[in-house]
Amino acid sequence: MSLVCHCGPPSWSKPYFKVDPFNGGGSRNAALAAGLVRPQETHVEVSPDLVSIGKLLFQTKKMSLDHETACATCHRDRFGSTDGLPVAIGTEGHGEGISRLLDGGDIIPRNALPFWGRGGVGFDVFFWDGRVDGSGNGLISQFGDAAPSDDPLVVAVHLPPVQIGEMILDIAGNYELESESIGSAQRVYDTIARRIAEDPALGPSLGSAAGVEQADIGFIHIAQAIASFIRFNFRIKDTRFHRFVFDDGELTDDERAGGLLFYGKAGCSACHYGPYFSDLRFHAIPFTQAGFGFNGFGIDYGRFNVTMDPDDRQKFRTPPLYNAAKTGPYSHSGSIGNLKEAIRAHVDPLAVYKADLLTGPQRVQFYESLRTWAREPVSGTYLSDHELDGLVAFLRALEYESDQPVQETE
Ligand code: HEC
Ligand code: HEC
Repeated sequence: MSLVCHCGPPSWSKPYFKVDPFNGGGSRNAALAAGLVRPQETHVEVSPDLVSIGKLLFQTKKMSLDHETACATCHRDRFGSTDGLPVAIGTEGHGEGISRLLDGGDIIPRNALPFWGRGGVGFDVFFWDGRVDGSGNGLISQFGDAAPSDDPLVVAVHLPPVQIGEMILDIAGNYELESESIGSAQRVYDTIARRIAEDPALGPSLGSAAGVEQADIGFIHIAQAIASFIRFNFRIKDTRFHRFVFDDGELTDDERAGGLLFYGKAGCSACHYGPYFSDLRFHAIPFTQAGFGFNGFGIDYGRFNVTMDPDDRQKFRTPPLYNAAKTGPYSHSGSIGNLKEAIRAHVDPLAVYKADLLTGPQRVQFYESLRTWAREPVSGTYLSDHELDGLVAFLRALEYESDQPVQETE
């Protein structure tokens, strides 16, 4: 009888990159083994004309059926292309940051995601739950066979404008749109496309950039332009860590120590690997759930909402880590304000757990995520305060700037 298990690696594991600090590997070699590439290798070519008009479309509230929000309302420079809030506030919101939080408005029950590297080579899984996924054969999305494009970023850009509370007012007259049927979404797309086509500033530029008559502009041309802008403006550029790995740049002692932990003992690179510091797969990290939750009553089942597989409950897409220091609060529900505590939650969830702030169902959800987390490579590791500081320092070496500033417009 053989005692060797031929059951294969557990489902989370793609290759598991760890450096052996006694073998002189260092984080330079580990990063290469873990799939870091020069930024240019992630770039997808885009048309400069589509990028220019895409920027204007990204900035304007004309993209919202009710002229309430622009993409730039929630994806702001100041917060690393997020909104600086735990969960996003859409229609009927005002201002930015804390004043937006205090002023009310419709809540989107998830933390806004930033754009660094989105739509680069191989970056083809979108949103916290991966509900737009081009990583396999064919594209999976709520559009089914009627997907407007085979480019997952273009499909992802189709979702915000038809989301009640995000870019459509949560009022009785709009409820019939909420069925989220393709038919009602199409009516929103047609209205916005006509509005943009007839706009004297936007229509002619989009028509000529997309190579269509102004009268033939459809939502697909708008989405392609915005996707081109996101791809270009937030494309990965050299960070201090790239320069260290590829060009003999320097890191501080703290950053080096953090890098060794990241690729070594702390096991971060088991999931945060590759050119984007993400496997673009789904895992459970026991962050506590804050707020109303995507599924209501303080619950967010995450990936389960897409696959309906009970094993996927409380799993979320591994977030890429570029500019992480700018994109707080952290986690899918924005329950953690500080980068160090967001890392701590991976290894010592009870240390950041506030039982008295959670409802009974939220605690049950937490226990469920602990069960899945216990099988993830990051559980069972102790990281001291000093080590957590090193990891924060390392993440700060993954910063770069976007190409152009964005500004919300009417
Ligand atoms: C009300 C705030 C709000 C507005 C307005 C908004 N977004 Fe977002 N955006 C979010 C939130 C919140 C998420 C995360 C949602 C999720 O994953 O369930 C997100 C996620 C995304 C993602 C996925 C990024 C990733 O890492 O997978 C893309 C792409 C995106 N938004 C594009 C846009 C575009 C384009 C517009 C304008 C047409 C827009 N957003 C308008 C809040 C907003
Ligand atoms: C088992 C896979 C896995 C490992 C290993 C892992 N992470 Fe994560 N990480 C995730 C997932 C999944 C999330 C998002 C979970 C959520 O929001 O519910 C996350 C979230 C984060 C965030 C918050 C990002 C944001 O934008 O909200 C940071 C920062 C982070 N991880 C850093 C690290 C560091 C540093 C390590 C090593 C100590 C590490 N991670 C190890 C999967 C992993």
